[in-house]
Amino acid sequence: MSTLIKSLAGLGLGAALTLTAGTAFAAGGHGCGTFTNAEGVEEHLACSTAPIDFTNKGSLQNGAKTFMNYCAGCHSAKYVRHSRIAKDLEIPPELVEKYLMVTTDQIGDHITAEIDPDIQASWFGAAPPDLSLETRLRGDDWVYTYLLSFYEDPSRPWGANNLVLANAAMPHVLHNMQEELSQEEFESEVGDLVNFMAWMGEPARHDRQVIGFFVILFLLVLLIPVYLLNKEFWKDVK
Ligand code: HEC
Repeated sequence: MSTLIKSLAGLGLGAALTLTAGTAFAAGGHGCGTFTNAEGVEEHLACSTAPIDFTNKGSLQNGAKTFMNYCAGCHSAKYVRHSRIAKDLEIPPELVEKYLMVTTDQIGDHITAEIDPDIQASWFGAAPPDLSLETRLRGDDWVYTYLLSFYEDPSRPWGANNLVLANAAMPHVLHNMQEELSQEEFESEVGDLVNFMAWMGEPARHDRQVIGFFVILFLLVLLIPVYLLNKEFWKDVK
């Protein structure tokens, strides 16, 4: 009997482990890529954890500023309207119009890239993808680690390469920011940027999690009267 229970428990654990591995894979493969170190040995790059917090409006606002100033030149985010940024991130529309609308003059417009991606493809060798859903495609941590993993490489056309995406066609656009800030400050800026990108990918994520929590809580509380009622019903039958 106990062997049966043990093997059943083992089966459950095995299934749980497979599930976890499956999720890790969906979130960007095995870690954040592989690279060859100075000794010529292949190493796995662990993902850093992106500081995602949709309740931190300051972080989302700062991320929006960085995104519009450093990324929207090349990348579009075609599912995101400027007016939604104003509403969800609690930024007065006048300020969005003044500081965050770099590629349009209509606040109801989606974020389009400043330069046509097709033209860019001929410059960079790859078109910059739309970033609306990027964190859902690759995972928050992948995007965060990618943005922190540019390094100097004179053999590349733009003098930079990336540990996560080998031979990335994207230049190290945050190079000046990285030079000016301490490592900690730079990570915090990139953290805000990825927080904003995660918000773009699923603006309702925080609400969904909060609602989910209360739904489960409600079901657990409901279990008590249902259990008692069940006992009451069967009392006379047994
Ligand atoms: C000068 C144009 C340019 C700018 C500015 C730029 N990118 Fe890119 N980006 C590219 C190109 C080109 C690629 C395609 C890289 C490749 O496939 O090798 C890319 C790829 C990416 C990818 C990887 C996409 C994937 O899943 O493979 C991410 C993430 C990304 N960019 C984020 C950003 C963010 C965030 C910013 C702002 C800080 C930014 N980019 C600014 C040109 C740019």
